[in-house]
Order: sequence, then C-alpha cells, then structure tokens
Amino acid sequence: MSTFWKKIRKDFPITKRCIYLDHASAGPMCRPAVEAYRKYSRVHQFEADLSWPQWLAKREAVRKKTAAFIGADPAEITFTTSTSHGMNLIAELLAGQGTVLTNESEFPSSTVPWIWRRAKLVFQKSHAGRIDLKELRKQLKPPVKTVVSSFVQYSSGFKQDLNALGALKGSRYFVVNATQGFGAFELDVEKSKIDFLCTNSYKWMMAGYGGGILYIRKKWLERFEPDGAGWRSMKNPDLMNNRLTDLRVDAARYEWGCPPFASIFAFGAAVEYFSQIGIQNISRRILELTDFLIRRLEEEGVEVISPKDSHERSGIVIFKTGQVQKVWRRLFDQGVYVLPRGEGIRVAPHFYNTLEEIDLFVEKLVRVQKKMKAGGVK
Ligand SMILES: Cc1ncc(COP(=O)(O)O)c(C=O)c1O
Repeated sequence: MSTFWKKIRKDFPITKRCIYLDHASAGPMCRPAVEAYRKYSRVHQFEADLSWPQWLAKREAVRKKTAAFIGADPAEITFTTSTSHGMNLIAELLAGQGTVLTNESEFPSSTVPWIWRRAKLVFQKSHAGRIDLKELRKQLKPPVKTVVSSFVQYSSGFKQDLNALGALKGSRYFVVNATQGFGAFELDVEKSKIDFLCTNSYKWMMAGYGGGILYIRKKWLERFEPDGAGWRSMKNPDLMNNRLTDLRVDAARYEWGCPPFASIFAFGAAVEYFSQIGIQNISRRILELTDFLIRRLEEEGVEVISPKDSHERSGIVIFKTGQVQKVWRRLFDQGVYVLPRGEGIRVAPHFYNTLEEIDLFVEKLVRVQKKMKAGGVK
C-alpha cells in the first residue's frame, strides 16, 4: 500500500478491530466527520444559541462545497435526513405528473414514496442485476414522464451509466437515487442531465446517520411549489410573519425548521475530506480492491454474480455461496463484516481497506466453506 493510503487508513480506527467490508450498509464515520460532530457539540454546550449566526454561515459553506462536489449550484441543494426523505420531497412534486419508469432491482426508497402517492409505476426487468439501456430506451415513450434510477444497484453492484441515461431521457424528469455511488464515484448533475438527486450521509460518505442531500435543478425549483413549508422556508424567517407566505425560491425552502447542524457539518467535513483525497483517486482505489477481490474469489472457484465489465462495476461485489447465513455468521465471528444478500454475500470495501484484508477475507471464506463441506460447521 502506498504511503498516501497508509496515512489515510490511520483515520479509520475500526481497522484495528475487524475487517470491515460493509460500506453498502453503513460506513464507519471518517475522522473529519467525527471531529466536526465533536466541535459542534462542544460549542453548543458552552455557547448555546450565541453561535447561531456562525452556524448558519457554516451551513451555507457546506452547501457550497457540496454543490461543487456534484457540479451543482448551491441554490439547488437542500439538506435532508436520509435518501428516503429526499425521494419523498421529489415524489411530492412529480407523482402527479405522469407514469414513472423504474426497474425491479431498486431499493424501496426509490419506489415507496411514489407508490404511496398512487403514481403509476412501470418496472423495467433487470438481467442479473443489470439495467439495460437499450431496453430502457424502448420503454421511454408516452405516458412515461419520469425515470427513476439508482446510480449503483444495492443488490447487484451494477453501476448505471448516468451520462448515457441522461442523454436518453429527453424531456422527461430524470431522478437519481445516488446512495450506493455517492462518495465512491464521480457524479456531475450537469453532465448527466439529472433533474433531481437524493442521497444520504451514512454509507459511502462515512459521515454518520441523520444527514443527506437533495438536489433539485433550478428550473424545477421555479416551476414547482412545494407541498410543505415551515417558518424557515420563508425569505425572511426572522420577521415571524403569520400572514405572509413569501417562500424562498432556492432549495433551502425545504429546510422547514432549525437545521440539524451536527449532521450537516459532519457531511460537510466528509465532502471536504473526499475532495482533498480526490474522487477519482477514491474510485480508482475502490476498483483496485474490487478487481482483486473478484480475481481472488474466482481463483478459489467462487461464483461472482455482480457485473464484471469495468464500466458497470462499483464498490459492491456479490458472490454466491451455499448456506449463506451460516457462512456469514462464521465470518462475523472471525471479525469479518460483510452482509448476506439473497443467495449470496455482499462485500463492499472502501478506500481505506487493503489488498491484504481482501486476501485474508477470501482465505477465511474458503476455510469456512471447506469446513462446511466436510460437515465441521453447524
Ligand atoms: C439504493 C439505496 N437507497 C436508499 C437506501 C436507504 O437510505 P435511507 O435510509 O437514507 O433512506 C439504501 C440502503 O441500503 C440503498 O441501498
């Protein structure tokens, strides 16, 4: 491992405890995010509301950094508490606009908010977790008005080509659930012609639970009125006006009450940290680890069921095994954290993991599988 990654690895004390390979469920908080939480709590403990103006200014600084991270304008970014929160705000605007084309591999956060609002959904079939763009194109006809897709599919690791999908979408609304790719792969809302995007803070961004962002393209902010509003949605909240409903025009109109500063600052610290490392360095590192993982698994005769083409691969690798729960439990008992998924196990390393950890994981897996075959594991 290069000295660059060795230094970064020191920011992750979890590496002293176990081999953690489950970032698709939740990542450990990265050091800068932890420090941001601590700093905020300490200031709040000693200063209570005295820091309010500084906190508001800091929130705007985070908004700016976050916008730059995905090629957006700060006015297009809202802070949310989860992907599901963001997707609900999107569905609130678009559920009445016409049929929604999505696919059968989506995580329910992509679909439930629409189903709940009685939108008509069409589910494209997936093939071994792949969502084929040629097939998608055929379904892009009236009455489809919205396309909802994940950046990376949680259950297969398939990474969608967002630029290609954006080029196909035409005048339809393009909605992206970025959860499993945000913080692992580069995203540019302009290049990909994304209209709406939501994600959370606790997976690949490693900023803890409770945060997230929603991106809304400026022209849709101008076109759609939100269903909900609060005192802080107002242009001038400090007027405490009970008669006017003079809403802000930017995306912050969706931040109804006092902000969850701690999670916003933690998210901001993670964005800064990731930007310093460089998102391209991060994705290269993740792909180096998953390349090696796939190679090692296949050398041992283990069947990998995630897409293997380089342009469709992500940080998620799923392989098949018999007795999934038992294999998972044995690995867990040996300090290896992965996740059972369907008929296989999901492995999701991040940039601070090492090739040695991957190798050790495969060794342990092979030993467990051999023992099981020999009837030595109950
Ligand atoms: C693609 C995807 N979207 C959404 C979620 C859940 O996000 P949240 O809990 O922030 O709503 C997950 C969790 O695994 C996921 O994989």
